[in-house]
Amino acid sequence: MANTAPPLLLQGSYKPTNTTNYSKYSSITATCPNNDTINGAVDDGIPTIDYFMLFSSDPNQRSLALKTLSHACEDYGFFYLVNHGVPDSVLESVFRGMSEFFDPEQVEYRRQFEKKHPTDRIRWGLRSYPGENREYLKVVTHPQFHCPPKPAAFSEAMEEYYKRLREVVHGLAKALSKSLGLEECYIYKAFNLKSGFEVSAMNLYPPNFQSNGSMGISDHTDPGLFVSLIQQVDGGLQILSHQGKWINVYIPRNAILMQIGDQLEILSNGKYKSHVHRVVVERNEVRRLTVATLHGPSLDTFLSPAMEFVDDSHPPLYYGMTYKQSLEANGNEVDVQSNLEQLRRY
Ligand SMILES: [Fe+2]
Repeated sequence: MANTAPPLLLQGSYKPTNTTNYSKYSSITATCPNNDTINGAVDDGIPTIDYFMLFSSDPNQRSLALKTLSHACEDYGFFYLVNHGVPDSVLESVFRGMSEFFDPEQVEYRRQFEKKHPTDRIRWGLRSYPGENREYLKVVTHPQFHCPPKPAAFSEAMEEYYKRLREVVHGLAKALSKSLGLEECYIYKAFNLKSGFEVSAMNLYPPNFQSNGSMGISDHTDPGLFVSLIQQVDGGLQILSHQGKWINVYIPRNAILMQIGDQLEILSNGKYKSHVHRVVVERNEVRRLTVATLHGPSLDTFLSPAMEFVDDSHPPLYYGMTYKQSLEANGNEVDVQSNLEQLRRY
């Protein structure tokens, strides 16, 4: 973990709160001040990227923001995204809708979405064992949007959120291309994002007294270009740093946590890395809602290290395969298991 940050890498005394307030945040800061530990994890600075600055009309500001993005992707693999343009009202509607969907009185309604076939585009599950404690709803959100029809406000809220989020991801793809010294549309085209395959997991993590063990989800990486995460109650997510240190994630108000996915690591031949992460529930005082969305290339996109990142000193580190093959290597398209380790040549 780098100790110094470039000027736009905003860090400060972010104090995690128990319940996120989706009013405009007053400060863009991202370092928890204490060194409290959860399962041996530490609080540490996580880079904050100002989305608006990536497209500033001031070339100096824009250049500095792109350098910051590059630094965040190369040295961390994850960052908080602020000023992203997804309105507070949309985020509030998402969590209101999720609360209605996960109504404890409506479990029987949700059971109809339990997995019946590997290609099901809507999938619900309830897990309570030492390695996994959560209730979830997984849906494919692009190229076609899928969602349980009821409650209607829930489906509408989610569709609006994913539409707005996709615009942000497409913008980030442009900025990422530039940060890698590539032409602006390089990643958009290489990933065929117009038909990008997106899967979203809406999670409800129980309070600790209802969980069976300390883990919400055990260690893993995720496929795709990016994984985005929003949550309505802070705490629980931990990311493994380059130095092998578990870092507690505290997402600033109204920010989106962005993590690099496996396919960006492959395309960039390891320059930008997908990081192992996990969710712990042992300190959950209340139930916690999160939305993790995997923004992937189209299913038929063949991803391998791009020639721009391969030379005699940098041989290709990964085997290539289509995104569909990659997702099916360990399961199916909707369960979206990582197979990054299987793709490593060395
Ligand atoms: Fe994940």
